[in-house]
Amino acid sequence: MVEVGLSDIAIYVPPYYLPHAELAAAYGVPKEKYNIGLGNQNMAIVPNWEDIVSMAANAGLQVLEKSGTDPGDIQSLIVSTESSVDHSKPVASFVQGLLKIGTRCRVYDIKNACYGGTAGLVDSIERMSHTVKSPRKSLLIMADIARYGFGNLGEPTQGAGAVALLLEKNPGLCSVDTSLNGVFSQDVFDFWRPTGYAVPFVAPGKLSIECYLMALEGALADFRSNAGIEQGKLMDHLDYVIYHMPFTNMAKKAHRRLIEIEYRDSDLETQEEIFNKTFSSKVVPGLMGAREVGNIYTGSLYMGLVSLLENEREKIEDKRIGLFSYGSGCMAEFLVYHTNTKLGKIIDSLHFKEQLDKRKKITFEEYTQFYSKSQEGVSYSPGEINSMKNQYTKFLFTGFMDHKRQYI
Ligand code: COA
Repeated sequence: MVEVGLSDIAIYVPPYYLPHAELAAAYGVPKEKYNIGLGNQNMAIVPNWEDIVSMAANAGLQVLEKSGTDPGDIQSLIVSTESSVDHSKPVASFVQGLLKIGTRCRVYDIKNACYGGTAGLVDSIERMSHTVKSPRKSLLIMADIARYGFGNLGEPTQGAGAVALLLEKNPGLCSVDTSLNGVFSQDVFDFWRPTGYAVPFVAPGKLSIECYLMALEGALADFRSNAGIEQGKLMDHLDYVIYHMPFTNMAKKAHRRLIEIEYRDSDLETQEEIFNKTFSSKVVPGLMGAREVGNIYTGSLYMGLVSLLENEREKIEDKRIGLFSYGSGCMAEFLVYHTNTKLGKIIDSLHFKEQLDKRKKITFEEYTQFYSKSQEGVSYSPGEINSMKNQYTKFLFTGFMDHKRQYI
């Protein structure tokens, strides 16, 4: 069977952030709760001249440019999001227009909580591997704004951003064998946002965390039986593991659960040793994005992949990476990516750390101003617009005309 996977990847994060220490001070919470308890340092803030469409297009443009791809060659364009701006018109159609992608292209959105990105990835890869008239190049973009509202327990886990993946046969970055997977799904109310609500509901207490961990257990059991991996051997099989991260320490909780399951026949001291060793070498390199940006829902797992690629630039070639995708509701899938060699150019053109370094720090007051403003009817002078654009922010949302969202 022909190998299909990622030939390139790019990330876009908005140009502002609020340190969690400022958020903690404003609410009279010890900053250690956010910095150590959740593991989060800074939270990405979206100004009202950006939205998921502009972020998706900004990430998409980067991946096309860095890979030297002609937009006319894209035959499938999918946007996965759980913060869509329209009940009918796909976000992908806006992006198609902005990126000048041709008309001979299948264009649609996927909504499936934070699992939506992986749903798009698996569907695209399977279509590209098995159909005769398969698309040669597919563009999959995950874009979200995670908002819980002022004073909500989830507020310190907010974030925003977009990740774009270019999928191809004989991929340059990594292949993904979707037949060696593990899935788990169940009907649960752990996190949900009914139609018409601006912010989500989360199950009380630790239920949302438990649903995630239960899904991890189920997906791993299914993966082990599909891949024929014996109990206690999974860590030998993987060089790195990336978990979906609604907040950074969720990866720690998930990895602890994985070690407990894998090494349940070992004593607690041995389990602790294996956890410490594998967490620092196989999981920590992928945590940077979650710590610095927050939760970006569909793109969170893939922001972990970008973090890993940049942080392990010298070691990441020819490696096996386990990716655990989780979406509330719930649906989970465990997949293994196998990286190629000669990744230098792909990694050097990521500029994730550079984007993080170039962001502007804002105060708690500025954050409340940004997130209290309505996005309807924003209008700026040409001078203001130019100052908002930069090396990474190429597309902006400029408000509505005849109920139609406008971008430049
Ligand atoms: N210093 C260090 N750590 C501290 C602390 C302090 N002063 N105060 C609290 N903590 C730790 C807690 O012990 C806890 O860690 P633990 O989970 O390892 O025990 C952590 O900080 C969070 O504290 P907790 O009281 O549990 O937080 P919370 O009630 O505010 O809720 C979430 C945390 C994640 C449930 C909440 O942010 C939320 O609902 N998020 C959205 C949903 C979500 O992300 N679900 C995850 C699965 S998808």
